[in-house]
Parts: sequence; structure tokens; C-alpha cells
Amino acid sequence: MTVASPRLAQRVQLKDKHIITRMMEIASDLDDVIKLGRGDPDLDTPEHIVRAGQEALGRGATHYTNPIGIPELRQAIADNIVTHGGAQYSPENIVVTPGGQQAMFIIALGLLDPGDELLIPCPGYNPYLQAAELTQAKLVEIRTSMETNFTITAEMVRQHITPRSKVLVLINPGNPTGSVIPPEEVSRICEVAKEHDLIVVSDEIYARITYDDHRAQPVAVLPGMHERTITLSGVSKAYAMTGWRVGYFAGPADLMPALSEIHHAFAISTSAVGQYAALAALTGPQDCVEEIRQTFDKRRKVLCAGLDRLGIPYAKPEGAFYVYARVAATGLGATEFCERLLADGQVMIFPGRIYGDYTDDFARMSLTQPVPRIEEVLERMEGVVESIRSERSFE
Ligand SMILES: Cc1ncc(COP(=O)(O)O)c(C=O)c1O
Repeated sequence: MTVASPRLAQRVQLKDKHIITRMMEIASDLDDVIKLGRGDPDLDTPEHIVRAGQEALGRGATHYTNPIGIPELRQAIADNIVTHGGAQYSPENIVVTPGGQQAMFIIALGLLDPGDELLIPCPGYNPYLQAAELTQAKLVEIRTSMETNFTITAEMVRQHITPRSKVLVLINPGNPTGSVIPPEEVSRICEVAKEHDLIVVSDEIYARITYDDHRAQPVAVLPGMHERTITLSGVSKAYAMTGWRVGYFAGPADLMPALSEIHHAFAISTSAVGQYAALAALTGPQDCVEEIRQTFDKRRKVLCAGLDRLGIPYAKPEGAFYVYARVAATGLGATEFCERLLADGQVMIFPGRIYGDYTDDFARMSLTQPVPRIEEVLERMEGVVESIRSERSFE
């Protein structure tokens, strides 16, 4: 068999990618698997958004669009960023992409030369690691831990600075951890970024899904940050629109022409129907976002209470829709636990190693099933945990 570029394939393949492959193999022989793996809400896209997509198709939205996105949508994104406390962007400095995911690769290719250093909280959302690897940049992991609810601090960033430091990725609220960086800490981190001339990629895709009194501070609006921040977001999470594939990034005028060119080379433009649906999402009634947030909040409480009963500690989810649990408390490593839970309990969750966790202690559970299914997950989990604990008591 010929492989196009083994070196490239090797670089983009995370060391632990085989874990997912193995879990898919186990799942393929099982019935009624409850999936809390992917970050894809089970909720339907709100009706008015779907209708707007259908109407757009009826009007002939079946062509390429302006490469960086239809102007109405870019204006709506600019307005929406301001409405939620973010910076003022001119619509020319916003690029609509097929999901925020693709934006990560565009940004990495546009900003990083081989040997440049990209600082990223660890555990963190893995495609950033893959994007940096593709450019042969050096990944600098800033290790966070449950003791501080996986939040990253200015001091931690400072300790990892070298003369090659170039880009700092902040994912706030965090995936896989659900941690929200306190606003005053975001300001302190920005001071370090300015001091060391870093570009900050601020992933704010979960910003509208926070709980209790937690709030994710937008970065580009802070003093002196507009010119060194790329804000990345999209409609997938807040509007349950993962399958429409619409995200965006916005940045300072001097960086955007080159980044727009790379986007054009990748995609030509984002799907027209998706863009019209996203326009309806951002300009239509917003109660659906609050309903979605409340749905996740209820599920979060049920899952956390169940984990408390099982004696499994977890990082307190302050935002996003994940619970990052220290399943090693059961006596098995997280990877083995996830495989066992799948094989014996027909529940799929992902071990933290997939997200670059430096331990094999944690697993991410997505809140992507209704409450009765989450209760069922807890019941199945209880059976598996009890059998693991009783086996271990005989060892
Ligand atoms: C932190 C984070 N950023 C960006 C994305 C990309 O989402 P999308 O490509 O659907 O916009 C995800 C998806 O899970 C994510 O978790």
C-alpha cells in the first residue's frame, strides 16, 4: 500500500488516536450504546433556523458565496460579538468558515513557522494540537489540574514563555474540562501576552453556555488586545447547529488578508444554506439559546449528583457541556475504565488522553443525552464500578 506522506501522516496523528478506533470497534458489536462521547448535542436545531435554511434553498442559495461569507452574516456576527460584551469588528475582518474547526487550521497555517511555539492549556481541545503539528510548530503544553478546576493562570503562562513563544490558545469555557477562566485572570493573562508580544487565539465557542455566576470574558475587547487577538467561534454549540458547519474567526486588519486567502484555498466559501441558517440564528429570537443552556444545566446537575453518589470526583463544570471526571477513582486507569464501561455497560465516554491529558485519570462525559438516559448511564455505571471495586478488593 502506498502512503502519500508517512511523515505528514505521522505528525498529524496523535499518539493516542488508536483509543477512539478501539472504542468504535468495541461499540460496533454492541446494542443500545448510550453515547456521551462526541460534543454533538442531541437537540434539534430550532425550527425557525431550519425554516430559514429551507427558504434560502428555495431562493436558490446553492452557489458559492463571497469567499469570506455573505455580508449580512458577517454584519450579524459583528453585532452579536458586541451584544455579548466583545470587541467591535468590521465585517471585512470576519471570515465565515465551515465550522470553527477549520478556522483552527487556517490560523495555524497563517501564523506559525516551523519552530515557533504555540502555548496551549493541557488537557485541551485536540485539533489545536494537530493544527500546530501540521505546521511543525512546537507545542508547549501548560498543564492544568483538578486542584484548580483546570483553570489556567497568568503565572502558568509566564512560566512557559521562551523567545520562540508566538501564539497562546485560550479555550474559554474549556473543552474537555468545562472550566471557565475567571475574568480577572483573563485580564492578567492578556498582560503577559502583551508583555511578550503573543498572539492570542481566543476560542469562545462555548461562551454562551455558562452556569451559575460564571461568565467567559471575551479577550479582544480588553485594552490593547484587539490588535493581537483572533476570536474564534461559531453557531454549532449555542444553537445546536453542529451539522450545518458554520463557524468564524475575526481578527486585526493586518492579519486578515493572508488568513482569508488560506480560507479561500481550503474552502472557496462556506455552504450558502448554512450561512443563511446561521444568519437566522444570530438575528432571530434568542430564547432558544437560553433553553439550550438550561437543558444542559439540568443534565449537568443530574450527572454530577450521580457521580457524587458513586464517589467519582470531577472538575466542577462551569461552562460548555462536559463533565470531566476522575474515573481513576474506581481503581482502573481512565482508558481501561472507558473500554470496560463500553463493553460491560454499553456507555461510551472518552478518556482524557484523547485531549492531551498528561495523566490517564480522567474521562470526558458529554451532556448530549436527555435526563432519563443520563440516569440510565449512572445506573449502568454503578454496576460496572461495583464490579471493578469488588474485583480489586480481592487483589
Ligand atoms: C473548543 C472547541 N472549539 C471549536 C470547536 C469546533 O466546532 P465547529 O467546527 O462545529 O464550529 C469545537 C467542537 O467541538 C470545540 O470543542
